[in-house]
Amino acid sequence: MTSTSSSASGDVGVGLISVGWMGKLHSRAYRALPTVYPELRLRPRLVHAADTAADRVTYARDVLGYAKGSADYRAVLADPDVDVVSICAPNALHREIGLAAAAAGKHFWIEKPVGRDARETGEVAAAARKAGIVTSIGYNYRHAPAVEHVRELVAQGALGRITNVRAAFFTGYASEPKGALSWRFKRDLAGSGALGDLLSHVVDLVSYLIGPITEVSALTSTVYAERPILPMGSGTHFAVIEDGELGPVENDDYAATLARFAPTAQGPGAVGTLEASRTIVGPQCGLGFELYGTDGSAVWNFEQMNELRICLGRGGPHQGYTTVLGNPHLGDYASFQPGPGIAMGYDDLKVIEAKKFLVAVTGGERRNSTVEDAHAVAEVIAAAGASATSGTWQAVPAVPGATFGREPAPAQGPTDG
Ligand SMILES: NC(=O)c1ccc[n+]([C@@H]2O[C@H](COP(=O)([O-])OP(=O)(O)OC[C@H]3O[C@@H](n4cnc5c(N)ncnc54)[C@H](O)[C@@H]3O)[C@@H](O)[C@H]2O)c1
Repeated sequence: MTSTSSSASGDVGVGLISVGWMGKLHSRAYRALPTVYPELRLRPRLVHAADTAADRVTYARDVLGYAKGSADYRAVLADPDVDVVSICAPNALHREIGLAAAAAGKHFWIEKPVGRDARETGEVAAAARKAGIVTSIGYNYRHAPAVEHVRELVAQGALGRITNVRAAFFTGYASEPKGALSWRFKRDLAGSGALGDLLSHVVDLVSYLIGPITEVSALTSTVYAERPILPMGSGTHFAVIEDGELGPVENDDYAATLARFAPTAQGPGAVGTLEASRTIVGPQCGLGFELYGTDGSAVWNFEQMNELRICLGRGGPHQGYTTVLGNPHLGDYASFQPGPGIAMGYDDLKVIEAKKFLVAVTGGERRNSTVEDAHAVAEVIAAAGASATSGTWQAVPAVPGATFGREPAPAQGPTDG
């Protein structure tokens, strides 16, 4: 497919690699897209899905509606009817499949964190750049209408200069000691633990809101040293196994960082604390931030995704927070619901992500997260991992092309001196 031919027809052949949690979610998003955004005239067709687990291939064909199914992902990449590919495999396969998709000239929407470490993410980014393909990353929380609104308030200067941020992703998916030892707990399959799996979401979110992180100091800890083994392609990472054989947890359950952000047009960069845990008891999917500026602040948490707490200004009769409910003024809310206060959900964030991806693929505006953004996040995670080992502050290398959805800075012209 060329951008021209697809933008003319709006018909996009979709391939799916891996039919786990995310593979199903991407598929539901493609299916919902034409009804949520009819004005875009995009018609994704589910063409070819692959998974090494035979029952998941059957599910992809019989339930999700893919026309073809294969055990080998290479069949999806070789399929001439496939224009774009969703790569929803475990982290250890992101590099291999990302490079193969780029070599096949297929635009791809790949799940975070794109590889097991920054080197792998960088290799996928370089291959995509060389192939000239469009990429999108599964950093879905940025698309929440409340988050998009806070980003606009920051860009307009409505909160003043952002001075500090507290952000965390606290989830209890591994809070049960007999929670399954899925691929997420093995270094060769996942890379790091809470760092790459969860803190990466936090880093993407705060970078999307206020800009890139330049320096970090971090620590990590592991709460449970062993867990019952879960075979690949069975169950989910929320599974609990009562009498299973135990295997070692090889990466971190908890991570915390102090962070410095790049300076902005408003002045010196912000500072802040970022945390992640997968074993916490209480929060369930608690990805949230508190953003403080010289003229106001904003508080949001995914567990109350449709609520935003805002304080604008230092004086007047309404000091303290106001709770704003989801409404058609915020982000893409109006495409989903006609009036305020009607809750959107997690699936909807993936529909917005699918839209941004296919709009960019078909030659429209590029509001999608890119593999350069994912590489920039991976460099922060790598620096945090290095800091946790060394106990010292670590500089984060800048990644050219990473804009977190902002226009690239204008090229520096010659000066008059
Ligand atoms: N954006 C988010 O919020 C979010 C949430 C969960 C997971 N993720 C990311 O999505 C990715 C997948 O996670 P998941 O929870 O869907 O995993 P999962 O365990 O539910 O599914 C993984 C699938 O990959 C298949 N697979 C394994 N080897 C394969 C191979 N060689 N070829 C094809 N398929 C193969 C397995 O059989 C399984 O069906 C991970 O990178 C994860 O970090 C993102």
